[in-house]
Amino acid sequence: MNPQELKILVVDDDPGLLETLTDALELEGYGVTTARAGEEALQILDEEEVDLVITDIKMPGLSGMELLKVIKEKNQSLPVIVMTGFASLETAIEAIKQGAYDYITKPFEIEKLLHTVSKAVTQKKLEEKNKQLLEDLGDLNKKLEEKIGQIFALGEVSNIVTRIQDLDTILQAIIYISLEITGASKSAILLLDGMSKEFVVEYYKGFDSKLMAALRIKLGRGVIGAGVQKMKPISRKVLEENNLVLGKDEVELVGEGEFLIMPISYLNNIFGLLVVADFPEGKRVSDAEINILNILSRQASIAINNHYLYQKLQNKYLTTLEVLVSALEAKCKNTKGHSYRVGIYARKFAEFIKLSSDEISILEKACALHDIGKIVIPDYILSKPSKLSDGEMEQMRAHPLKGVEILVPLGIMKEIIPVVRNHHERFDGKGYPDCLKNGEIPFLAKLVTLADAFDAMTSLRSYRKALTSQEALAEIEANLGVQFDPHLGAQFIKFNPQIVL
Ligand SMILES: [Fe+2]
Repeated sequence: MNPQELKILVVDDDPGLLETLTDALELEGYGVTTARAGEEALQILDEEEVDLVITDIKMPGLSGMELLKVIKEKNQSLPVIVMTGFASLETAIEAIKQGAYDYITKPFEIEKLLHTVSKAVTQKKLEEKNKQLLEDLGDLNKKLEEKIGQIFALGEVSNIVTRIQDLDTILQAIIYISLEITGASKSAILLLDGMSKEFVVEYYKGFDSKLMAALRIKLGRGVIGAGVQKMKPISRKVLEENNLVLGKDEVELVGEGEFLIMPISYLNNIFGLLVVADFPEGKRVSDAEINILNILSRQASIAINNHYLYQKLQNKYLTTLEVLVSALEAKCKNTKGHSYRVGIYARKFAEFIKLSSDEISILEKACALHDIGKIVIPDYILSKPSKLSDGEMEQMRAHPLKGVEILVPLGIMKEIIPVVRNHHERFDGKGYPDCLKNGEIPFLAKLVTLADAFDAMTSLRSYRKALTSQEALAEIEANLGVQFDPHLGAQFIKFNPQIVL
């Protein structure tokens, strides 16, 4: 700071002294403003930026001490030097106590005054520099904390992606963290429907649920659909730089403020979009935030890809097991195609009672594998034409638990395990292996029990002929509330399955 940039206000009721001081200070290069009274000084301080005040103590009207008090109330950091006659030295000491930087006694040598002014100015500069450094340090700390928060958040996502195979949990964590990092209030993940080539909302936070249910973004169409195909982020800045105008649906998604859309892709295959919208007012998305969200969308793509690979692997395992079951059933003409037919009856019945597509998908797999445990039962028991001995019956009745023992270590389709385990339970609690009753029996297991029994009764056995559909349904009706759930069984009779050969 040069003296030329500094302005000093000199206050004294003695015009001669004012002139002398002005000349001396201006000669040193300071800018000088003068006031003949305390009141005038306060008016100048309200209107002008001043770096230092030199004031006489004894003045008519507002005294130097009163002026000092008002200045310190308004601006603690503005240095004030008081001038006083020898007789009021005590007052000068009191002024120091009140916050004056220093005092000089009249008559004074001009050199001494300039020295005191120089010291005060240097100290003020140091204080300002310290203040600036502290502010910078505060800003740096804040940025550092933000960075640590972001690194921590990314570490969390990486942990989740590597530890958890549940796609829902991973993607919901990514949404939560994208909001934490940007301060935005809306985030959504849209996944590409391979058939319709439309992005459909899968997970979201902060958005209207009706809007999310209806929203579709067609790949390759509109600003967003075409933009993400190029695997580049889209933000308000990108729209402005390229004179792009969003369509109505797109505006509904990102709103009128700042937003960021990151493509979720893996090896140049796009799976979905990460959308972050409704940033705090006036905030523009930063390069650092784009980098972080880019990492998040990569993590999302890894999670989705892993999920698909895992599903593929699961399906391969399940297909292998289904082939095993078919081969086992094919050994005996009475049981050939049993699990396949049970699957058909169960699926058609599930559609009749309007189960969800997810439940039907579990049901189909469960039917295909419900008797997988029989692969460890000796063939002579499975195909024995006469009545089983107690020991043989015990081995036969072990097949649901043997099925669970086969499936659990594979860690696949955990949802089918209760069906495999409990498809021989009875409504009256006299079934096996857990002797569950009524509401204790898993719903899908009750459904498989009905389809299983219907197929068993309508299939030929060595000891009896195959029943007709009506005979089998009459048998089921006779056992409602005994072997079968009365409500579900009644619906099954109403469904009236036709025998599949
Ligand atoms: Fe069975």
